[in-house]
Amino acid sequence: MQELTVRLEMVFEQVKTARSVIGSGRVIDVGSDHGYLALRCLEEELADTAVCTEIHKAPARRSEMALNDAGYKERSSVLVTDGLMGVKLQKNDIVVIAGMGGLNIIDIITKAVEDNGTGVLGDVVFVLQPQKSNDAVRQFLASKGFNYQDESVCCDRNIFYNCMRVAYTGKSGTVTSEEACYGPVLLDKYNNGDEKVREYFVHLNEIFEVRQRSNPTVRSALEERRKNECK
Ligand SMILES: C[S@@+](CC[C@H](N)C(=O)[O-])C[C@H]1O[C@@H](n2cnc3c(N)ncnc32)[C@H](O)[C@@H]1O
Repeated sequence: MQELTVRLEMVFEQVKTARSVIGSGRVIDVGSDHGYLALRCLEEELADTAVCTEIHKAPARRSEMALNDAGYKERSSVLVTDGLMGVKLQKNDIVVIAGMGGLNIIDIITKAVEDNGTGVLGDVVFVLQPQKSNDAVRQFLASKGFNYQDESVCCDRNIFYNCMRVAYTGKSGTVTSEEACYGPVLLDKYNNGDEKVREYFVHLNEIFEVRQRSNPTVRSALEERRKNECK
């Protein structure tokens, strides 16, 4: 079985839960690099077929070799492309976009919505693991009508990561600065005493203390957090 880092294991767990809710289908791993996630999804029968996309040829080749060597040549394909360009989304697809910046993730989803329309999106689950710009991702998701199914956190070699599972509902809305910076689902988990999320928030508060000097959204998020903490 393909071993994964703690971070990718968290992403994998979100794929696993998504698959337990929707029917069988593809896993599309955008920015697949070594192809480890797609491989593990095939090994654990979370994907009928896997599609890996890579913007660069060398990681695309790595993904292809990993999948072929493990005997999944017939059930996988690797495309050198930007995001989801050239991939027509289908019912029950699980799209993973992990390990890249939030602005890149926003760009990839924006283009996918343009190319596929919103019709099919209600039957697709997106598992997103931004390395930064979580606030921008959450503002984007809310404004475009994506709703959360879950968000999880982990600490991998002393670095905290989060992973969102979302689906398109068409019900657009807004998020407060606090929700954008901390995450609506994570705020709920925190309020329900989730220890991992509490540790994550301690870490975020430290970062935000510094960042608030130059970032008004972070400043108001910290203020809202302090007020809500005192309630
Ligand atoms: C840091 S790696 C993360 C790999 C893997 N998804 C993970 O989470 O471990 C990011 C990968 O995404 C690829 N990438 C970046 N932007 C991309 C885009 N717009 N479309 C496809 N691949 C992209 C990079 O080439 C790189 O291999």
